[in-house]
Amino acid sequence: VPLFKSHARSYGYPNQCLRDLNELQQIQANDVAAVIIEPLIQGVARMRPWPSGMLRQLRQWCDANGVFLILDEVMTGFGRTGSMFAFEQEGIVPDFLCLAKGLTGGYLPLAATITTQRVFDGFLGDAERTFYYGHSYTGSALGCAAALGSLKVFREEQTLHHLQGKIQLMSELLAELVDHPHVGDIRQCGFIAGIDVVQSKSQAYPKDFLMGAKVCMAAREHGLLTRPVLDTLVLMPPLSTTAAELRQMVAALHSGITQTCA
Ligand SMILES: Cc1ncc(COP(=O)(O)O)c(C=O)c1O
Repeated sequence: VPLFKSHARSYGYPNQCLRDLNELQQIQANDVAAVIIEPLIQGVARMRPWPSGMLRQLRQWCDANGVFLILDEVMTGFGRTGSMFAFEQEGIVPDFLCLAKGLTGGYLPLAATITTQRVFDGFLGDAERTFYYGHSYTGSALGCAAALGSLKVFREEQTLHHLQGKIQLMSELLAELVDHPHVGDIRQCGFIAGIDVVQSKSQAYPKDFLMGAKVCMAAREHGLLTRPVLDTLVLMPPLSTTAAELRQMVAALHSGITQTCA
């Protein structure tokens, strides 16, 4: 989505948006400090999953070229993709990990940037080396208490264990949407789904119809509050969602699509 990328050009340091690993391999690695990526699936790119194994290959490229790998798990972290962190599914470890939303279960604002010991040590020492950067609410005691509470729930309720059945149910429910004449591609990664609303199986809606937004408004009448990315409907239920609630959510999307596109 170009709108989301144009700002980055004015951040004051050179950066380049790449489409895939092939494009990365074409550029001069000596000039690269770090690669930043949302692992497994890109949220605002309309819930687009990366090819399986791609993250592992990216880690290898970074290691071979002395480039840091920064993973943005603000959306994917804390169970969202089915494992605690998305990177675990490809058996790698990032150099930097950016966390927020699920850190507190979304109840209070808290974010964290986690690094390897090597990176952390790089900032230890005298004033010249210190990383002088902070937020007003860094280390918020209340936010940290909420985060600890959320982690306790993960342990005590075995959230990740129970999630696996819900992910499977989501797949089954989404499969029932496939034949809808106004549903195009459906992409799922763990407990995240993107459902494309289309004019017909071979044609997208004109952008200015804002069909994604209209379907989401219609779904509200059926009890579901969600939002689109362009014409992709986003389904990211709370991890605590019950099977009955999940059924109701997908049914609400189904009704919203039928009602709006008819
Ligand atoms: C993948 C991703 N990264 C970063 C952000 C922004 O996070 P923060 O508000 O903690 O800066 C979001 C917010 O939606 C996000 O989805």
